[in-house]
Amino acid sequence: MKPIIVYASTHHGNTRKIVDAIAKEYGVETVDATGVKEKDLSKYDLIGFASGIYAGKFHPSIRQFAKNNLPVNKKIFFLSTSAMNRDFSASMKEALNGKDPDVLGKYSCFGYNTFGPFKLIGGTSKGHPDEEDIRNALAFYKKISETCSRFQDVI
Ligand SMILES: Cc1cc2nc3c(=O)[nH]c(=O)nc-3n(C[C@H](O)[C@H](O)[C@H](O)COP(=O)(O)O)c2cc1C
Repeated sequence: MKPIIVYASTHHGNTRKIVDAIAKEYGVETVDATGVKEKDLSKYDLIGFASGIYAGKFHPSIRQFAKNNLPVNKKIFFLSTSAMNRDFSASMKEALNGKDPDVLGKYSCFGYNTFGPFKLIGGTSKGHPDEEDIRNALAFYKKISETCSRFQDVI
């Protein structure tokens, strides 16, 4: 099973913390969508899109990367860190139009936020992602990758 995580983490590196922990623990390749615009993803079995949330959306570079590079019928998952810790993956919908991906799961957690007025109060969710957020993300990834491998066993 060949996995990759495409990420954008431009505010405090919050999302990158999660991505790096998964990459280290499970040997997953990563690519920073704010720098790399094109990549052949056809040989990857599992593709993660990881991003901080900016104005309610995954980073523009992630959306553009998915639009340009994601082949049809891939197994994918989402990771995000945000001030509100909600599921913002609907913001990927347009980028995934016509690609018919199989979404295996979504993980989100709080991320330290000092955007705009929040800076004046020292930010929100300071210290996040914390160790527990990272442990939960690792458990999430383990489950997703096992599901992906089981699909391959059947095929
Ligand atoms: C310009 C900007 C806009 C943001 N908009 C939102 C938002 O709409 N909803 C939310 O929950 N968090 C929002 N946040 C908070 C970030 O999503 C949060 O801090 C996230 O963990 C940043 O991830 P990063 O450090 O990986 O970039 C925003 C932060 C910035 C800098």
